[in-house]
Amino acid sequence: MNTKRLITSALPYVNNIPHLGNLIQVLSADVFARFCRARGYETLYVCGTDEYGTATETKAIEEGITPKELCDRYFAVHRDIYDWFEISFDKFGRTSTPEQTEITQHIFTKLDEAGYIREQTLEQLYSEKSDMFLADRYVRGTCPHCGYGEARGDQCENCGKLLEPQELIDPRSIVDNSTPVLRKTKHLYIDLPAVLPKLQEWMDRASVEGAWAHNAVQMTKSWIRDGLRERCITRDLKWGIPVPKEGYERKVFYVWFDAPIGYISITMTLTPDWEDWWRNPEEVRLFQFIGKDNIPFHTVIFPSSLIGTGERWTLLHHMSSTEYLNYESGKFSKSKGIGVFGTDAKDTGIPADVWRFYIFYNRPETSDYLFTWADFQEKVNGELIGNLGNLVNRTLTFIERYFDGTVPAFVRDPALWETVESIEAEITAHLEGAELREAFRKIFALSSIGNKAFQDGEPWKTRVSDPPSAAGLIANLTYLIQDLSILVRPYLPGTADAVARMLGCGEHSWKDLGGSGSLGRIGKPRILFSKLEDDLIVSLKDRFSGSQAEREAEKPAEPTPEERFSANVDLRVARIVDIRRHPEAEKLYIETLDIGGEERTIVSGLVPHYAEDELRGRNIILVYNLKPAKLRGVMSEGMLLAASEGETVEVLFADKASPGSRVLLEGYGPPGNRQGKLLKIDEFFDMPIRVETSRVLVGDAPLVCEGGAVVTRTVSNGSVG
Ligand code: 2FM
Ligand code: ZN
Repeated sequence: MNTKRLITSALPYVNNIPHLGNLIQVLSADVFARFCRARGYETLYVCGTDEYGTATETKAIEEGITPKELCDRYFAVHRDIYDWFEISFDKFGRTSTPEQTEITQHIFTKLDEAGYIREQTLEQLYSEKSDMFLADRYVRGTCPHCGYGEARGDQCENCGKLLEPQELIDPRSIVDNSTPVLRKTKHLYIDLPAVLPKLQEWMDRASVEGAWAHNAVQMTKSWIRDGLRERCITRDLKWGIPVPKEGYERKVFYVWFDAPIGYISITMTLTPDWEDWWRNPEEVRLFQFIGKDNIPFHTVIFPSSLIGTGERWTLLHHMSSTEYLNYESGKFSKSKGIGVFGTDAKDTGIPADVWRFYIFYNRPETSDYLFTWADFQEKVNGELIGNLGNLVNRTLTFIERYFDGTVPAFVRDPALWETVESIEAEITAHLEGAELREAFRKIFALSSIGNKAFQDGEPWKTRVSDPPSAAGLIANLTYLIQDLSILVRPYLPGTADAVARMLGCGEHSWKDLGGSGSLGRIGKPRILFSKLEDDLIVSLKDRFSGSQAEREAEKPAEPTPEERFSANVDLRVARIVDIRRHPEAEKLYIETLDIGGEERTIVSGLVPHYAEDELRGRNIILVYNLKPAKLRGVMSEGMLLAASEGETVEVLFADKASPGSRVLLEGYGPPGNRQGKLLKIDEFFDMPIRVETSRVLVGDAPLVCEGGAVVTRTVSNGSVG
């Protein structure tokens, strides 16, 4: 049994934007979920925002809105970020739902009936002005340790010492500025010491069976060894789940009591059959992905809450708890706004798969990892592009050039496939144990083996001296690439799609590994990723050096037309190697272009202005990053630049420049930050280029290519499009 995989990643606090360090959990669970689906397990991946508690309530007060409004706003931010990263949740929900109230109150009631809830009376600060008990964070005063005047009731932000609100000198309520008084009140506690024997028994077995991460085992054992205490599960707040017990009408549950229960309630909002997942320990294995700071909540408190009810629950099977990802010289920090945040990653223009690659390749599985921009550039250019991208590109281009775009007949090279299959078995085993980084690194090792075989086989020579050997090698490598596309799919779904499209093989599942199917004609080989250039990395490092707040303050003024153009438009020189009339349209040509080794087809309306011979063999300027569009049934992958003045049309030629070279605005670099971004045609026309006294200009800057400024001969003043 145990064929169902229930997967969760820590529910992110709703009230701020997640940074790369936080995103690791969601991304990791996504890889695992995608792997489980490809393996054929019935799989459910749930996550959502953790919404209740003081942090949300105080932030809402600060912003002058209700907690609900604050949560709605941030929920959308979270959802957009995870969409962009292509997280394949079965449900991304939230904790502020009726289902959450229902199931949390149910669990509490069962715990209470079983005798695991205790009541304690204590003295707590109370505001007479507002007639309410004050949660720790609602009290500020002078720190007894360092004298800081604005210390919070739970912790002094100046010296970092943990505090009890009663210790503050001159305390005051931040709700109404009054001086609070001490008053007796009752709170509820979960009696962890009483649940301990059952917890211990479960933990001893589960941690071994589920091969918990080392840090989870260590930390849980030390928690238990140091003696479990009763933990308070109620708070004096409004924004939380009501406590269904007499005398507690004005209190709510502590957010850490209800947050993990959110995994269950979010599933309830997805399906009425939620119990097939959460009350089905025989058939379901629960895999949880969290950061190490959340371990005891998932290995002690949440399981104790479930075990204590005496009911049947699906309990944690595998705990995947990562270490920290640090940033440049320090820590990622949400409160200080230091690091790269989800929204930032998106703004860099670097594709999601490149970020995903870096995070998985360096996932802090067994020790902390330091993100630096230099390392980011090195790993992406070296491994993702230099290894995987290179194997795909060199093999497929070879097929296109020398095998007429058709994969040669596949006769297995037994030695190669013995190695491949044994490494694939290791990868599968690592993935089964959620050792994502190990598995990922082995995928790249496999790709290296392919590159080495290409290098050693020298097909560029044997293609002439020993054609069967070249054909055999290329066929074997193509099937290896197909396997690689299956293996990387959980990690880099967009890339896997792109490779599968080029191979013409569709989406495979895990059982197709080992060189299956029959490949025939391939699609046009495309570069999978653009290299991260030095100037881009330098500018990103600089851009993300301060805190979020500083970045906001330093946001540059509106960009100039030159800046906008150079940041967005990618112009390249291309040679027209072939040109023919469009069969369906009398004014259109179909041109085949060579862009420094890459081939593309475009369609342009030049028939009334040029004969085919006037264009064939000439170098033109191509808008390289234009969204492909169909013109009368033929896909046009870009547009050439031509100037016009009245009826006169003149193509901008760049005959002295080599195909593939860039055309830039003088004084501006290549479109670094926006690389990879495709422009819609009207976005392009929003950034006008014009001809003035035979010079081609954007704003005040002339267009230049290898060999000098781009100039016109017949059009002396006009527009370019
Ligand atoms: O650390 C955090 O972001 C918490 N909101 C995680 C909660 S995990 C689960 F218990 F909900
Ligand atoms: Zn202090």
